[in-house]
Amino acid sequence: MRGAAAVAEFTPDHRPVMPAETLRALAPGPGRLLLDGTVGLGGHAAAWLAAGEPSARVVGLDRDASALDRAAARLAPFGDRALLVHADYRDAAAVWAERALPAPDAVLLDLGLGSHQVDDPDRGFSFRHDGPLDMRFDRSVPGPTAAELLAHASEPELARVFAEYGEHPAAKKLARTIAETRRRSPLRTTSDLVRLVHDVAPARGRTRIDPATLVFQALRIAVNRELEGLGETLETLVRMLPPGGRIAVLAFHSLEDRVVKQTLRRLAEPCRCRRGDPCSCGAVELIELLERRAIATGEDEAALNPRSRSAKLRFGVRR
Ligand SMILES: C[S@@+](CC[C@H](N)C(=O)[O-])C[C@H]1O[C@@H](n2cnc3c(N)ncnc32)[C@H](O)[C@@H]1O
Repeated sequence: MRGAAAVAEFTPDHRPVMPAETLRALAPGPGRLLLDGTVGLGGHAAAWLAAGEPSARVVGLDRDASALDRAAARLAPFGDRALLVHADYRDAAAVWAERALPAPDAVLLDLGLGSHQVDDPDRGFSFRHDGPLDMRFDRSVPGPTAAELLAHASEPELARVFAEYGEHPAAKKLARTIAETRRRSPLRTTSDLVRLVHDVAPARGRTRIDPATLVFQALRIAVNRELEGLGETLETLVRMLPPGGRIAVLAFHSLEDRVVKQTLRRLAEPCRCRRGDPCSCGAVELIELLERRAIATGEDEAALNPRSRSAKLRFGVRR
């Protein structure tokens, strides 16, 4: 079965976040090409291909080779309409140039990590599973893993990571304890780190959030340099689109969403110079934002998929 009904059909163990809203933002259609910069398990890509029968196409990138294997299996029914490339979305323009691909009609970034990574104890992303402190999206590149970062980063650098990427109230205290204890008791596993965090910065009050959450988030962002160049990359991706092309971004924490919001607003800024004068204000006015505010997950989806709760969808149309 293909077409509209298939859009809502996802593999039982994986449902992409805000599938209908994202698809609407991307404006799928026959013959249209999607640059999916974070193809993951291929949920959004499959929806795009199904909605654009019989000729929509996807080029899906991911830093995680194991995600690409799973996306390949999921997208197999669409044959050669899906091309998967092991690459960082920050290198999308180079991938396009190397393969002489036509301009994409839409770009999607579904940022952060996927359920396939959180749920695999071997990857070390979750404080709920015991496993090695790895946290690399791309395991084909040599380190640094989270364990290596914790072993070698200076105390001020660790404090910066916990404060900046985790906004952790006990960032300095955590960094000091790690620097003081790591020689005699190195942090090798997720359980080692959870124990240390619970000792140093136990949960206060009646919060249900585990104090390790922000520490794991901070380390993951640092290991994968997730925020590095995000704003510049968004501008590059927007410039790859033809007029009328769409860009949609799903972000899952405030640091990421702040960069997305500020960048898209900057790219939508109209020129304030007097008509006829050469532009001196620097506004680029590359896109139009159809919704000024981000779209959040509805109650039903949040109940079905708790991980979607923090998601924010922002999108624009290339001028
Ligand atoms: C939330 S998941 C994407 C889920 C996907 N949209 C779906 O429907 O199945 C995020 C994916 O982005 C990948 N990723 C994270 N940073 C990346 C980057 N800089 N370049 C390419 N892929 C990246 C992760 O490996 C992960 O597979």
